Amino acid sequence: MLDIQKIRADFPILTQKVNGKPLVYFDNGATTQKPQVVIDAIAKYYQEINANIHRGVHTLSQLATDAYEESRKKIQNHINAKFAHEVLFTSGTTHGINAVTNGFTSILKPGDEILVSALEHHSNIVPWQMLCERTGAILRVIPMNTDGELIMAEYDKLLSDKTKLVTVNHISNALGTINPVKYMIDKAHEVGAAVLIDGAQAVPHLKPDVQELDCDFYVFSGHKLCGPTGTGILYGKEEWLNKLPPYQGGGEMIKEVSFEKTTYAELPHKFEAGTPNIAGGIALGTAVDYMNEVGFDNIQQQEKELLEYGTQQLLTIEGLKIYGTAKEKTSVISFNIEGIHPYDIGTIIDKLGIAVRTGHHCAQPIMNFFEIPGTIRASFAFYNTKEEIDSLVAAVKRAQNMLA
Ligand code: ALA
Repeated sequence: MLDIQKIRADFPILTQKVNGKPLVYFDNGATTQKPQVVIDAIAKYYQEINANIHRGVHTLSQLATDAYEESRKKIQNHINAKFAHEVLFTSGTTHGINAVTNGFTSILKPGDEILVSALEHHSNIVPWQMLCERTGAILRVIPMNTDGELIMAEYDKLLSDKTKLVTVNHISNALGTINPVKYMIDKAHEVGAAVLIDGAQAVPHLKPDVQELDCDFYVFSGHKLCGPTGTGILYGKEEWLNKLPPYQGGGEMIKEVSFEKTTYAELPHKFEAGTPNIAGGIALGTAVDYMNEVGFDNIQQQEKELLEYGTQQLLTIEGLKIYGTAKEKTSVISFNIEGIHPYDIGTIIDKLGIAVRTGHHCAQPIMNFFEIPGTIRASFAFYNTKEEIDSLVAAVKRAQNMLA
């Protein structure tokens, strides 16, 4: 069992007051808070080894390069990638997805099909729509049921030899559904389609094993697992990364440049043009270490308790409806109160120190499916407590009384 008070002491922001009330931070789906070790790793880089990487002969450049590449190896081990060069640093999930969709521009032909799930965040819809516009490929949607679960029988029917790529999130940001990605990857491979998994909402809760999943691409953001904003990872199988053209041209991603012809660098540099977020990349490795020290078994146990307790307690509120009741779900509760706009509840409970996200959560098709403008989303992390859930429930009741 986790000593939650000890864990909370690792996060300086959690002792803050907001609007004169103790902060109750339930917007972890948007971004997680940062432990002191991650904050220190960023400061230490700038205080002690700030230099550009992969280019200098001088000592600081070497130290910075070593720290950055060590971080890449940590992440390789964490996700169990076969090679370190399959782990590419990005600025976040959106960057990773766009790098892949850009690469597929030269691969797809008119009439080819891309399957996208009904549960996606806009960042895993729009880049594929743009790709379809460029290539004449067709986007097809894997539907969901009213619990917020993808319907596998429909998925099976959609797959055909026209399917070139399947893209799905590991966990839904808006509803918390954990998707059956292993099944989906295996089925896609049977028809020769590649699979991209958007792991943005999964990495704070579980340790993905990309070799066991056998996915072709796995993308995530660093800031969702206690790392810095502006960092992320695009994992790709070596054969795919060799096949896809680079996303951006510039320094660092080349072997040789002349005005007649440029040749590209080997992986991972081919996809890492320009000076990266060096401090962020290093601190992402520190965040991964931190999460592993806490332990994903412990994280899951704590979050399961919070989900069960939160669901039970919130359902005591009259007129409250939860969206996303999948059998397999993580610690996200999206809900509405009958007759009240989610924004109004969110605004009032903010005055009571409680941070939740309200609105469509960058997943408008999900809101359209339920025919609602949005939800109030409480997303719990391992450092949250049942007492904080009690504060949320009391605050929502108070807001409800004020607005009734
Ligand atoms: N994708 C993030 C969320 O769900 C920002 O809130």
